[in-house]
Amino acid sequence: KLPMHSCSNLSLQKMLRKMVTMRRIFHVKADVMCTVLLLMLFCILLYVHQNMSIQFNILSSKSPSSHLEPQLPPCKPQPKSKPSQSKSKPQSKSRTKSKLRKKNVTPTKTAGKPLPTMPPFDFERYLREKDNRNFKLLIDQPEKCHVREAEEEEGTKKAPYMLIAVKSVAADFDKRQVVRRTWGKEGHFQNNVSIRTVFLLGVPRNQSALPLWDRLLGYESQTFRDILLWDFEDTFFNLTLKETHFLEWVNSSCPHVKFIFKGDADVYVNIENILEMLQGQKPEEDLFVGDIIIHAKPIRRRTSKYFVPEFVYGGGLYPNYAGGGGFVMSGHTARRLSSACQQVELFPIDDVFLGMCLQLIGVKPSRHQGFRTFGIPRPSAAPHLQTFDPCFYRELMVVHSLSVPQIWLMWNLLHDPKLSCHNSTNPTSGPFRWRGRMGEAVEEEADYGGKQVFVTH
Ligand SMILES: *[C@@H]1O[C@H](CO)[C@@H](O)[C@H](O)[C@H]1NC(C)=O
Ligand SMILES: *[C@@H]1O[C@H](CO)[C@@H](O)[C@H](O)[C@H]1NC(C)=O
Ligand SMILES: *[C@@H]1O[C@H](CO)[C@@H](O)[C@H](O)[C@H]1NC(C)=O
Ligand SMILES: *[C@@H]1O[C@H](CO)[C@@H](O)[C@H](O)[C@H]1NC(C)=O
Ligand SMILES: *[C@@H]1O[C@H](CO)[C@@H](O)[C@H](O)[C@H]1NC(C)=O
Ligand SMILES: *[C@@H]1O[C@H](CO)[C@@H](O)[C@H](O)[C@H]1NC(C)=O
Repeated sequence: KLPMHSCSNLSLQKMLRKMVTMRRIFHVKADVMCTVLLLMLFCILLYVHQNMSIQFNILSSKSPSSHLEPQLPPCKPQPKSKPSQSKSKPQSKSRTKSKLRKKNVTPTKTAGKPLPTMPPFDFERYLREKDNRNFKLLIDQPEKCHVREAEEEEGTKKAPYMLIAVKSVAADFDKRQVVRRTWGKEGHFQNNVSIRTVFLLGVPRNQSALPLWDRLLGYESQTFRDILLWDFEDTFFNLTLKETHFLEWVNSSCPHVKFIFKGDADVYVNIENILEMLQGQKPEEDLFVGDIIIHAKPIRRRTSKYFVPEFVYGGGLYPNYAGGGGFVMSGHTARRLSSACQQVELFPIDDVFLGMCLQLIGVKPSRHQGFRTFGIPRPSAAPHLQTFDPCFYRELMVVHSLSVPQIWLMWNLLHDPKLSCHNSTNPTSGPFRWRGRMGEAVEEEADYGGKQVFVTH
């Protein structure tokens, strides 16, 4: 056995040596192969990159021929000294327990400045420039209100039942998208009513924050056909211009619409409840419903974001106006407002401005409990944090200042077929009815008694 053993030992050693040399060769080969592979990969990447940039060039050289391009202003880089466009509101706002009104919007002149004290809004300049109130429509949707006959009940004019108008800014594509896919869906709802949606935009102030914004909006408009863009700067104090231009657009391009909902993009709107509320209302009569603020007083403290000096508004109290989130009006009221607002001097706070127009035509806005914006817990995806009851939301019409995921969550919760709301919170409430509740408790609940309704920091 011994020789055998030594023999095998020898052959083993030989084999081992062979294996080591093999491995060396293999290693070398592997290294070479790796290098070659990497080189190839690099070449492919370079090629693809070039191909893509070529394609991109083709795309961008094509776009000026699209019908929207020539009207758009050139996309020029902004000098960085300009303050950022800051109309878009922060997504999460702290709530106030009181009924105080809060719009968490940074005045346009302050963003990006290191100083904590904000330079005041230039009211003199505003007054000087406020006669300049007609701006071009850069992107239009002339077909928006042409509803095909089959879609609408017979015997009525070819017009949508409801137009949803959402204030937005160019950079907020995600907010527009969630609205398009949830409560702002076009089409027809139960009872065969047709619904159309538009987004109201101005020219972004900080164009370097969104390069190619004009091209992007052009594509978005081609895709969704719901963008209205005007040639004024999209700032908080220019929201009044958005209001007047939208009303003019309704008067000229959507004159037969029956009802209009106008609101922000960061709200959840229960369109079904609004449609239910509108049953029995006549579109050719005056109607203006929302979260109405009564007897609000202008803020005279200079440090406030909502400071309005006496030379801009001398009156003691603001007229009643719809605050926060959104409101509903009839087509008739919208058409009357479009001419009334032409006669009212521009006022930098758009809600109050519309209140002045309403006062001019003598329409008393009615308050509705469904337009609630205070003390409402937000929805949460985490079940252990879930402090809210979807059935409670089901009874509301407009819920204010929600983030994109919250809107999405709310929509899905409320459209969950398993959602059962019988005997949930309020044992006395039967099937929910909003009809006929309009204008309830106007005086005692909504009277702000000369209080300042804008929260200040
Ligand atoms: C390169 O671009 C052309 C069109 O410009 C396309 O047909 C081709 O498939 C692309 N090749 C690769 C590898 O992407
Ligand atoms: C504009 O936006 C860019 C990109 O977000 C930012 O870097 C720049 O500071 C902004 N400009 C101003 C004036 O705020
Ligand atoms: C809605 O329209 C369809 C088809 O036109 C019709 O069958 C249905 O009865 C209508 N529903 C209502 C509530 O009018
Ligand atoms: C409103 O827009 C106009 C036109 O773009 C601009 O000149 C003006 O400064 C803006 N006003 C405010 C208050 O932002
Ligand atoms: C509204 O439209 C009517 C009819 O087209 C027109 O006569 C009127 O001047 C318009 N009003 C405004 C404010 O544009
Ligand atoms: C609702 O409550 C009533 C009495 O409290 C009960 O009779 C009924 O079965 C309940 N309905 C549901 C769906 O739970």
